[in-house]
Amino acid sequence: MDFTNKNVFITGASRGIGKATAIAFAQKGAKVGLNYRSNDEAAQLTLKELPGEGHQLFKRDISQKKETKALIEDFVKAYGQLDVLVNNAGISIFHEIDSVDFDHWTTAWEKTFETNLFAAANLCYWGAQAMIKSGGGHIVNVSSRGAFRGEPTKPAYGASKAALNSMSQSLAKKLAPHNIYVGVVAPGFTETEMAAKTLTPEERENLLRESPFKRMARPEEVAHAILFLASDGAAYSSGTIIDVNGASYLRS
Ligand SMILES: NC(=O)c1ccc[n+]([C@@H]2O[C@H](COP(=O)([O-])OP(=O)(O)OC[C@H]3O[C@@H](n4cnc5c(N)ncnc54)[C@H](OP(=O)(O)O)[C@@H]3O)[C@@H](O)[C@H]2O)c1
Repeated sequence: MDFTNKNVFITGASRGIGKATAIAFAQKGAKVGLNYRSNDEAAQLTLKELPGEGHQLFKRDISQKKETKALIEDFVKAYGQLDVLVNNAGISIFHEIDSVDFDHWTTAWEKTFETNLFAAANLCYWGAQAMIKSGGGHIVNVSSRGAFRGEPTKPAYGASKAALNSMSQSLAKKLAPHNIYVGVVAPGFTETEMAAKTLTPEERENLLRESPFKRMARPEEVAHAILFLASDGAAYSSGTIIDVNGASYLRS
């Protein structure tokens, strides 16, 4: 896969899967715009790690509607055109229905959907406008195994990712005539801060038993699937959801 002369924009690129994806694109020749929300130190470190030149940080909170328009405008101003949009940033909040109060419950749903679904939808909107003008592009949305198997401790998370899958497939149909291809990568647990924060040691043990690999995904393995969907040869795979879950959850 070669991304020389391609301009790639990745949300949540300062850490975890987004960071590994930024490095992978840069290794293949792309110029990468890295979005993040607040952690300047992590973002600067990631920027320094990228091989090649022309990479830039774009610090904005994508859960704010107006920031999504500004982000794509800033990116196009900096790079001329947007070839690949990766909607990777996501959050997960515990809200077990039998133990949280109603305020916690409603806040968890609102915050989760603002970042995991509405921000991605809004960036797809502005990203698609830019790609239609320049003749096409690729959009890759990062979902989760939780969309398929349920998330009893974080139902809003599972629901937001199921909705993200559905939105991506609708957009794959609508945008193909504009040469815009939309794919989804659905990781299982991946060795990032999100996984470290949300797992107790006991849960971690149980989780490792779920996959015959007896380990979590590495961020680089998720990045590999994202690059595939963003590559020229993957156009006809538009609408696909690629599982990266170590055969821990196999759907038919
Ligand atoms: N890790 C897993 O086990 C796993 C499994 C399945 C799916 N996923 C999905 O994979 C994606 C990446 O997960 P990860 O584990 O790599 O996450 P992570 O390590 O927690 O990193 C999250 C990234 O998103 C950014 N971010 C969060 N909210 C943002 C906002 N409102 N605006 C802009 N940036 C924002 C963070 O920036 P700051 O640090 O500056 O806030 C950071 O760069 C998510 O969509 C997640 O749902 C992860």
